[in-house]
Amino acid sequence: MSSASTPLDAAPLNALVDVISSALKDIVTEYSKIGSTVPTLDETRLGPFDNTEQYNLRLNRAVQIVEGACAQLCATVARPSHYLTNKAYCFYECSCLEVAFSARISDILLDKPNGMHVSELSKASGVEVGKLGRVLRLLATQHCYREVEPDVFANNRLSMKLLSNDPIGNFIGHITDECMKGGSHLWTALSDPEWGTSYEVENTAFKKAMGLSIFNWYNEDPRGKSVHERFNQGMIGLGEFNGRGLLAKAYPWETLPEDTVLCDVGGGNGHASLIVLKSFPHVKAIIQDQEHVVSTGKALWSRECPGALEKDRVAFVPIDFFRDTPVRDCDIYYARHVLHDWPDAECVKILANIRKAMKPSSRVLIHEYIYQNVSPTRTQAYTLDKAPEPLLPNFGAGRFKVYTQDINMMALMNAKERSPEMFIELGEQVGLKFVKFHNSGETGLVEFALA
Ligand SMILES: C[S@@+](CC[C@H](N)C(=O)[O-])C[C@H]1O[C@@H](n2cnc3c(N)ncnc32)[C@H](O)[C@@H]1O
Repeated sequence: MSSASTPLDAAPLNALVDVISSALKDIVTEYSKIGSTVPTLDETRLGPFDNTEQYNLRLNRAVQIVEGACAQLCATVARPSHYLTNKAYCFYECSCLEVAFSARISDILLDKPNGMHVSELSKASGVEVGKLGRVLRLLATQHCYREVEPDVFANNRLSMKLLSNDPIGNFIGHITDECMKGGSHLWTALSDPEWGTSYEVENTAFKKAMGLSIFNWYNEDPRGKSVHERFNQGMIGLGEFNGRGLLAKAYPWETLPEDTVLCDVGGGNGHASLIVLKSFPHVKAIIQDQEHVVSTGKALWSRECPGALEKDRVAFVPIDFFRDTPVRDCDIYYARHVLHDWPDAECVKILANIRKAMKPSSRVLIHEYIYQNVSPTRTQAYTLDKAPEPLLPNFGAGRFKVYTQDINMMALMNAKERSPEMFIELGEQVGLKFVKFHNSGETGLVEFALA
């Protein structure tokens, strides 16, 4: 059929298909540049780009376009009742992921390429055979695990991420346990006459669900250390899934002078700085976080970047960023996924303390998810990466994580994700001047200097 005779109402659908096929070409090109093909789902080995350090911004963008356009296409062609009911039911997928991770199904299936019968899996995991089979079938229907023969399940490229020692598995454990419990009480909190308008961590959906604020819950949950450990591992997973490796590519580190000092404020064990130091030996890092958190850093660095420890290129200095000033006169003050934990008033305290430590040439880099309106955004002092039309300009489902993470912050801590304008406004409140915005997939770096 010639394009002239294409019915008018098919045009937007065809445009979405065109966007998908063009992005797919880009994906295939990225793989072919390294002499590879796109790995199948059936693989159990990591694909060449599955590890964040190999990932790049072009591939990331193309994948998000495919995700966004496929979802937009499905939302358009499906009956609304069908589409929305599927969406409403998807929390059961989370429940099944929690079962699979907690029962260590992927660990049990490790090195069993032909899979295991569900009765064997049941014996090894302790989950009742009939129920376990149904859980795994739901997941296999969503491409996580394969049902290789009736009732015989095997790992695949997705289920390998649910291994108990994988940071992504731990992040999924965290999301499908405490986050899902909080999320299930969002309306209860929002419709509460007092809590609905509050931005206090004591008035959250999570507390409605669990009777404790998230911080107290971590201290009082009877599983104790294992929940803490899962959270800490999960934070590494958070970095992994939002492309921690892109940090080395999103900022011009190579242009900075020898012995540039990067202060990673609220840096956890320093796993984000580690990516920078691995690629740029002229950069040094000071990791600052609460004492019990930074104290875990040495173990990670001696495993992943021992040279930096040996050459004193990394130091760990405890801080309470609400009370203390970070180490003074550093060249870069970097804070990743720190401000999103806090309401504006607390963010201003953290930024004001950073500002006190700065010398005239210091820069601040706030690294966070970048919240965008769904309607086309107005002209700004920076350029946000927009998806090709007719995709939603914020990439729709391709960057859905930004919006789920925003609601997660609301449900757990009454905190939020922010747009670049919101960060710029916070900076201005403490005398920081916006310099530049650096796109990094669904995250971005907002750069400030002293005003
Ligand atoms: C969401 S995590 C982000 C960690 C790290 N920047 C990353 O990207 O993985 C927030 C960090 O803030 C730290 N934090 C919370 N309150 C703090 C405080 N009062 N002083 C210093 N660090 C704090 C936590 O320990 C945690 O490591």
